[in-house]
Amino acid sequence: MHAVGNSSVRVAGDSISLREDIVWNELALQTTHGDSYTDLIRLFKIREVLGPVFGSEDLCILLYSLIRREVPRTLVELGTGLGVSALWMAQAVKENGVGHVYTLDDGRDFDQSLDCLAKVDELLTPELHPMTKGGIEEHLARFSTACGLTEHLTFRRATFGDDGDDLLAPESCYFGDGTIDLLLADFAHDPESIMNILAFFLPRMSDCSSIFIDGASTHLSSYLVLERIVEQLNRSKMPARFLEVKSKDQRWELFQIVSQRTFRLIHLVERRERAQNSTAWIRIEPTDWKPHPPSKLH
Ligand SMILES: C[S@@+](CC[C@H](N)C(=O)[O-])C[C@H]1O[C@@H](n2cnc3c(N)ncnc32)[C@H](O)[C@@H]1O
Repeated sequence: MHAVGNSSVRVAGDSISLREDIVWNELALQTTHGDSYTDLIRLFKIREVLGPVFGSEDLCILLYSLIRREVPRTLVELGTGLGVSALWMAQAVKENGVGHVYTLDDGRDFDQSLDCLAKVDELLTPELHPMTKGGIEEHLARFSTACGLTEHLTFRRATFGDDGDDLLAPESCYFGDGTIDLLLADFAHDPESIMNILAFFLPRMSDCSSIFIDGASTHLSSYLVLERIVEQLNRSKMPARFLEVKSKDQRWELFQIVSQRTFRLIHLVERRERAQNSTAWIRIEPTDWKPHPPSKLH
């Protein structure tokens, strides 16, 4: 029996008294966040149907929770895929009331991933139907409109280069005025690409930030390279790859970062026998005696 009005709830014969203020606060919360609940139901459906195509059905929820907790301002995703992680990140940003997600891709896998959806597309409502001839831009535009996320999400068509000096063309590399608080690199995870991503993006990251490299932790050579590099960085040793960077300013910034930050590496490994079953999480923090991001200490 559930009887909220008289402040008591009977569960399996036991009567539990409820504090009315808690009940009313909970009801008020449901009203205030009513839209968020509906938005999340829609996103759960997208996750369920499209998530398995690129293995992002659980990562998207992990990112959502982290973003809600830490309130990052500038979020960048390299490799949009079908937009599952981008939409979940944008939803978290929307609920936070601050921040923006930039997601980049050149659409090279788009047609192929649509083929994977042929069997499941009837599960989606017409406005979310992914079988579009318009390409990745149209797909993302329709999904972010249907989810009410257009203000919080920008898609940019861009091809990622294969060196650490110009991984992104300057016109693709504008992410607002600030530095990047959260980077999700989900387009390559071999050791060379990891070093290029770090050489290019470390100077663009906030003092306290996170870089996620999808697929890297269960690619053995990448796992070992990450372990080694993070250990070197924490000993303030500049990797040779960073010294090869052509731009003097970028090299200097890398030197500053290596000497002033603490790096933590966490391998998020799924207990699943599939190709996309891990994410390497590199946490960057000021070398400090207190936790970051700054928060109330108790
Ligand atoms: C694994 S999917 C991304 C999945 C997405 N991050 C998610 O969580 O749902 C990888 C994407 O990277 C894109 N991609 C791969 N190499 C690229 C490159 N060099 N430049 C631009 N996009 C690339 C592909 O088009 C593909 O959509």
